[in-house]
Formats: sequence, C-alpha cells, structure tokens
Amino acid sequence: MKKLMAANWKMYKTRAEAKATAEELVSRIKGKLPEDREVVIAAPYTALATVGAVLEGNAGCSLSAENLYPAEQGAFTGEISPAMLKDVGCTYALAGHSERRSIIGETDELVGEKVAFGLANGLSMILCIGETIDERKAGEVQKVIDRQLEAGLKDVPADFVPETVVVAYEPVWAIGTGEVAGEDEIVEAHGFVRKKLENIFPEKASEIRILYGGSVKPGNCAQIIALDNVDGVLVGGASLEGESFSQIALA
Ligand code: PGA
Repeated sequence: MKKLMAANWKMYKTRAEAKATAEELVSRIKGKLPEDREVVIAAPYTALATVGAVLEGNAGCSLSAENLYPAEQGAFTGEISPAMLKDVGCTYALAGHSERRSIIGETDELVGEKVAFGLANGLSMILCIGETIDERKAGEVQKVIDRQLEAGLKDVPADFVPETVVVAYEPVWAIGTGEVAGEDEIVEAHGFVRKKLENIFPEKASEIRILYGGSVKPGNCAQIIALDNVDGVLVGGASLEGESFSQIALA
C-alpha cells in the first residue's frame, strides 16, 4: 500500500502563488519520491488547473479538490460537481474536513453523500473525521469516530476499489494549533478506525489508507508515519511552502 502524503491548502494562494509553491515542491521531490509513496495537493478551486498543469507528468503526484457537491449539475449556486473537478484534472477530493463541519455546518449525512457521489463518479475520496477537545475530554473519541465513519461511508458503492477510499483522522484540537496528538493517542484512534473499517468492509479494510492530520511538520512526520495503521498524513500549515512539504513528502 502506498503511503499518501497529502497537502491541504485551504483558502490560501492566488494562482501565481499556487504555481510557485507547486513548482518548488516538484523540483525538490523530482526523482526522489519512493515508489511506495504518493503525493496529493488539495488546492482551492481557482488554483486547481494551475497546480494540475505543474503536477502533470510527475509520477506519484495527484490533484485534489477540498470539497464537492453531490449532484451531477443543476441549480446549486456556488457549488461544484465531480465532473467539473475531473475536467480540471482532479482525481481526489476531500469530504468532511472539520472546518467545513464546524464553520459551514456540514452534517455527517451530507458528508456521506459527498463521499458516495464522488466515488460513484470516479474520484478517490478522503473522508476527514476527528473529535473536538470537548468530545475527547468527555471520553467520546470512539463514539465520534464510530458515528462519523458510519455516516461517512454509508452509501459507498459495494464494488469500490479500496485504494480510492481514504480516511483522514484529524483530531480537531490538533489542527492548526501546533499541538500534535501523542503517539499513543494516534495509535489508539487509528487502531479503532481500522477495526471499524473491518466491520464495515471485512474484505477491503486492510487496503484502505488511514491518514493522520493535525500539526504535522517536517520534524515529526517520520515518527508519525512509522506508527501502526498510519498510512500517510494530511497537512495544512506545513504544506503551504514547497520546501517544508517536500521534506514531509520525502520523510
Ligand atoms: P494543520 O492542518 O496541518 O495546519 O494542523 C491539518 C488540516 O487541516 O488538514
């Protein structure tokens, strides 16, 4: 299984900035990315075509959207469909990032619809899950993971290819805070995610990648991806510079 090193640029970067960052990243990892590693950049919609053009032809590098809307087309002002994303070169999309859940108000059900619709329309989907600090303090980590996985994977097409479903465990309290989760916390949560995946998809669970996200940096990435059931990382802040993300990609 290839480790997936994913960047999430959120609402940062004009096209010129995106181009410069992607070019720097590519120049630093070209010819160095191990066979068993994949790099994905999730960029804002306006930068997708630009970043896609830089990544094109670079083995092991793919383009992702940060979101999608679960419909083919129609009167959905401000939204974007999987077909439109594929048209600009995306092969991945994120669904259910905690910022979309908490700021935009996305529900577990909507996130599940996005995952299912994206997969059915040929995108690989990165389903983001994770508990808030209050939920952790209340001892509800497993309850939250269970609920978010159950709803997020509810309508996944039965014949899905396991590599196209990715779960990113991102404890909300570790995102953008510099407070990376402890190794025991990561191992415990990822082990629980794997168990839950085995319940839902007994035959495919071992091939579904589980990423860790939340304050991943060049200095902590190698330790994190060496942990049990950690099949890659989803990186926000430290992915915004080509140099630091190249260190993560090659860690
Ligand atoms: P961070 O963000 O790396 O800045 O903590 C992670 C994410 O939001 O995916």
